[in-house]
Amino acid sequence: MKVTVVGAGNVGATCADVLASREVVNEVILLDIKEGIAEGKALDIWQKAPINSYDTKTIGVTNDYSKTANSDVVVITSGLPRKPGMSRDDLIQVNAGIVKSVTENIVKYSPNTILVIVSNPLDVMTYQAHVTSGFPRERVLGMAGILDTARYRAFLSDELNISQKEITAMLLGGHGDTMVPLTRYTTVGGIPVTELVSEERLDAIVQRTKVGGGELVKLMGTSAWYAPGAAAAQMVEAIIKDQRRIFPVCIQLKGEYGIDNCYLGVPVVLGKHGIEKIFELQLNEKEAAMMKESEGHVREVMNVLDDLNKQ
Ligand code: NAI
Ligand code: 2OP
Repeated sequence: MKVTVVGAGNVGATCADVLASREVVNEVILLDIKEGIAEGKALDIWQKAPINSYDTKTIGVTNDYSKTANSDVVVITSGLPRKPGMSRDDLIQVNAGIVKSVTENIVKYSPNTILVIVSNPLDVMTYQAHVTSGFPRERVLGMAGILDTARYRAFLSDELNISQKEITAMLLGGHGDTMVPLTRYTTVGGIPVTELVSEERLDAIVQRTKVGGGELVKLMGTSAWYAPGAAAAQMVEAIIKDQRRIFPVCIQLKGEYGIDNCYLGVPVVLGKHGIEKIFELQLNEKEAAMMKESEGHVREVMNVLDDLNKQ
């Protein structure tokens, strides 16, 4: 099995490292446009193998897509990250062009692959990759929900002083401040979180989750990479090993949740074909209103992309 990671920056290199360290596949190709960076990081990851004991070969290439041929999964992380004061949407102009050209090249050499998009603005870059690839929606997935629920679960673990392993959570909507963490679907060792955390504290945790990416940008001057890289790798692992795990994943909705042709995070089963099943939760009035708001926001940015693609 073979996986390509495009973009050998912070997120891409971390994703490749996690895939190699966990021996998810035999071979990871790391590709970047910047001369030498992918080769260097891939070599570094391979030189860590004798220390951490794994056999996955990591190979770096500069823009040579022939080396990515017949990849089972391709993770696209190429593009600018946020700087302080920027929203994810500010990245659209540059990143849309990058995601488009990368997708065209990938599809040429791996027409049957499954795409996992990471570049921001996430939901709309998933749209770009979907349109450019012409793949069925089951093979064009956006990574955000695993990261956003991980942040939420980490904050809850701190709040309760209970292992994060006990906390399961679900989240809907776009990867931005309008994301919809679902407290009703959050459990701690099977106990609804609403029985363990006050409404006021839960609201504060949800709010911190919504701006969780921005919190890190403020601290570091660029966006996060350890959790995002690991989250993308977790999606790859679920697909490669046909794990049929349930994750929130960004996908084109075609009528689910009463929403047509918009790219939003929803709970799905991930397996060897990509999306194996989509769950349509019965939302209460408040949740449905938040989902609508998120849809409205993503649609606005989709329209910006449509205008860019017409130019
Ligand atoms: P980075 O700047 O560290 O790495 C980006 C890499 O992409 C660079 O090495 C650059 O040379 C490469 N690149 C640019 N154009 C390329 C092209 N045409 N072909 C191949 N490689 C190209 O950025 P970082 O931190 O790795 O973030 C990458 C993207 O992921 C950003 O857009 C960021 O906003 C997004 N992101 C998304 C998250 C999510 O939850 N979906 C979480 C974290 C980051
Ligand atoms: C994050 O949430 C910036 O989307 C990136 O960390």
